[in-house]
Amino acid sequence: MSHRTWGGRFEEGPDALAARFNASLPFDRALWREDLWQNRVQAEMLHRIGLLSKEELEALLKALSEIEQEIEEGRFPWREALEDVHMNLEARLMELAGPAGAKIHTARSRNDQVATDLRLHLRRRLGEVLEDLLAFRRTLVREAERHLEPPFVLPGYTHLQRAQPILLSHWFLAYYEMATRDEGRLKDAQRRLNESPLGAAALAGTGFSIDRFYTAKALGFDRPMRNSLDAVASRDFALEVLSALNIAQLNLSRMAEELILYSTEEFGFVEVPDAFATGSSIMPQKKNPDILELIRAKAGRVLAALVGLSTVVKGLPLAYNKDLQEDKEPLWNALTTYQDSLRLLTTLLPGLKWNRERMWKAAEEGFALATELADFLAQRGVPFREAHHVVGRLVRKLVQEGRALKDVDLFELKAHHPLFSEEALLLLRLDTAIHARASYGGTAPRAVRERVLEAKEEVGLD
Ligand code: ARG
Repeated sequence: MSHRTWGGRFEEGPDALAARFNASLPFDRALWREDLWQNRVQAEMLHRIGLLSKEELEALLKALSEIEQEIEEGRFPWREALEDVHMNLEARLMELAGPAGAKIHTARSRNDQVATDLRLHLRRRLGEVLEDLLAFRRTLVREAERHLEPPFVLPGYTHLQRAQPILLSHWFLAYYEMATRDEGRLKDAQRRLNESPLGAAALAGTGFSIDRFYTAKALGFDRPMRNSLDAVASRDFALEVLSALNIAQLNLSRMAEELILYSTEEFGFVEVPDAFATGSSIMPQKKNPDILELIRAKAGRVLAALVGLSTVVKGLPLAYNKDLQEDKEPLWNALTTYQDSLRLLTTLLPGLKWNRERMWKAAEEGFALATELADFLAQRGVPFREAHHVVGRLVRKLVQEGRALKDVDLFELKAHHPLFSEEALLLLRLDTAIHARASYGGTAPRAVRERVLEAKEEVGLD
């Protein structure tokens, strides 16, 4: 019994390295709760269809509870020689429940067993991730609201060149929108994977009159999978989870990168809370944003997980192949990485100290308001291209003279275009400029405030 997977027609025991190479126990132990649940439901179903007596069912259920306690209390005798979590639990079941234990695997194979456990496990882990993601989205909305009044303004960038002023709240809400789509993708993946492979058996179904609808329902699945080959061979559900996690982690990496930039002395917009930074061992002036750097870097792992599992599945013939055992580690890795990153950002964001003066100055300085002038002319009938040209000439002159837009007076403006007036000068004030961008989805305080209110409702904040 103790070497069942190497048993069957085999006379020789396994090569030691081969056994270790083959074993998945170190990482599939994570499935123990799901495997116990599945075993309970399977036992109940076998009893319902008359393959297990009442006594046998009771013996199995009792043994399964004992096993649960043993694992929870850390005294379960895990044996790597038994290869994986399924064989470990089954072997223990036979020890504790006697002959009834040997019946649990009737009409089932480890192929549908592992596919079932994995779907249950991902469903649960995604549930946890989605809770953390909601907390993150709430934090983004709260931060957006907190920086509305007085308005925190910073330069928005394109090509990492100062482009146009934006509200910090608008910046927070940009990440909120991304996170909301991440949530949608993860929920989609969670919904689509919620089908039961159990009863597909090795690959072709079984001759026993099992009730797959019963087991599917008892395990909270929407339905049994309709094709037994597909049920044991497919891992597209896992790839979907990894794709969604990858996109989500990429989004976090962009936020981390922006915060790293904004916390440099060169930008000086924000200070990272001490609890999320480290000092240098040699340069006493330094405060390094290590945690943000790691969130940025760990996007590499999550992508690696997606690429890794994609490569395992590519060209793999149906149905089950041992290759599929390689699905677990990338999944665990990506889930943990994303979840940790989310949680870290959720605590870090409210601790950021934004430097309103520095940001304001950066937004005002230079030529972030040049578009205002071009728009002014365009609104008065000058074709936009021409207006763009006029203001371009003005900017070129100012750059040559080492001056900024705010140094310009009406006389000089008029020299560039006769339609310029006092009103145009007013536009060069930061608050006027920011209020002007009131188009739907724009950065004007009125538009952003409205969006904050909607978002609060979306995440259930009052
Ligand atoms: N440990 C295996 C896995 O994770 C379980 C399925 C084994 N099935 C088999 N036919 N060897 O994929």
